[in-house]
Amino acid sequence: MADKKATLHIEGQAPVDMPIMDGTIGPEVIDVRKLGTSGYFTFDPGFLATASCESQITYIDGDKGVLLHRGFPIDQLANNADYLEVCYILLNGQAPSREEYEAFKDIVTRHTMVHEQISSFFHGFRRDAHPMAVMCGVVGALAAFYHDSLDVSNDEHREIAAFRLLSKMPTLSAMCYKYSIGQPFIYPRNDLTYAENFLHMMFANPCEEYEVNPVVARAMDKIFTLHADHEQNASTSTVRLAGSSGANPFACIAAGIASLWGPAHGGANEACLRMLEEIGSLDNIDEYVEKAKDKDDPFRLMGFGHRVYKNYDPRATVMREACHEVLKELNIKDPLLDVAMELERIALSDEYFVSKKLYPNVDFYSGIILKAIGIPVSMFTVIFALSRTVGWIAHWSEMHSDPNNRIGRPRQLYTGEELREFKPLHERE
Ligand code: SDX
Repeated sequence: MADKKATLHIEGQAPVDMPIMDGTIGPEVIDVRKLGTSGYFTFDPGFLATASCESQITYIDGDKGVLLHRGFPIDQLANNADYLEVCYILLNGQAPSREEYEAFKDIVTRHTMVHEQISSFFHGFRRDAHPMAVMCGVVGALAAFYHDSLDVSNDEHREIAAFRLLSKMPTLSAMCYKYSIGQPFIYPRNDLTYAENFLHMMFANPCEEYEVNPVVARAMDKIFTLHADHEQNASTSTVRLAGSSGANPFACIAAGIASLWGPAHGGANEACLRMLEEIGSLDNIDEYVEKAKDKDDPFRLMGFGHRVYKNYDPRATVMREACHEVLKELNIKDPLLDVAMELERIALSDEYFVSKKLYPNVDFYSGIILKAIGIPVSMFTVIFALSRTVGWIAHWSEMHSDPNNRIGRPRQLYTGEELREFKPLHERE
């Protein structure tokens, strides 16, 4: 859009013209990079009205509940592609040919083992450590093992680091679980799909054969896809900011894992299931809905609300369908599903939630499926981190390919002390 601009009029100053930039779809942006010449900064804690970068990976329309990965709608990808094909699309921008898909899958499959010494690295943790604490440690430690892929200015280094992370996250995640229950680590197998391999490493043991249930594997793969990327969310923005300093990819992904752990973000799936367990029965729902509405009560309905979605999270729709499929296939009657569905029905008809446009998000149903599959609650956010690694890598790579890429360094509104003389302690006594 040629020459569209916003003009800022500040009393006593010449007007500041700022160009308006438009994207393919979605809101236009005011380019405030020239604002500095006026002596003013923008002020936007939490970045509610700030676009931190230009990106071509994922688009979200929060009002319409739309999520596109490289233009493809999330429900079409979740129902018609497997996670590795979605990874290819996120990383390369286009759907792969059969040959490209097979080559990509072969590279990922052949990088799933981790350095044998990483196994002993686990033994420095307590068995009851939260698996997200372990993942922060072991993923960051990959930089100590793979010195041949740390030069972020080298395209080949960036590519091999991306494949190593995508391939090894399921192995490291399953190792967290096995370590926590005192069972031996299970090596990856090259004859299994990505999701089958993860489930096999999670639940197999050396004493007997373990057959992966294909319905469960399909649901696991769908869960991976539904969590793969979500534009500039907190953990992805963390990875971009860490990466902007030139930090190595393993350190950047470890930073993303740390940010995702928070209960307001990826930790919500664990917090949501614990909330459903605390509510316990249909009889208690009204009490908890009232608590969530009480401004003086810090309790929130976990799995509800979203910074961008002011409509139903399209991932939650697919997740709910998968939830019913898995419980039916495994012949599980989980009362928590009844609680979740009744809680959703009540919340979606309650003025408080309707007026604030609070809908179930991706974390609302995922916990029920993961619990049905046999994954412990403490591993829920690890699954989210495993799934989101491809999104983090895609954004990290996009950032390094962006000619506008420079170190991220926000400014501030300072409201602290003015200049004052310091007196040494003996003069202050
Ligand atoms: C993820 O960014 C992403 O894309 C994240 C994610 C991804 O894929 O990367 O989608 C994954 O993190 C999903 C969100 C998971 N988190 C939760 O489910 C935790 C519960 N939800 C909330 O904490 C909250 O909704 C956030 C953190 C998700 C969004 O917070 P915002 O955008 O800062 O909104 P807010 O906290 O200012 O809430 C707006 C209002 C407030 O009331 P008022 O101050 O206006 O009176 O809505 C209320 C809040 O009190 N509110 C809730 C609520 N969420 C918001 N009230 C009760 N229960 C809730 N869940």
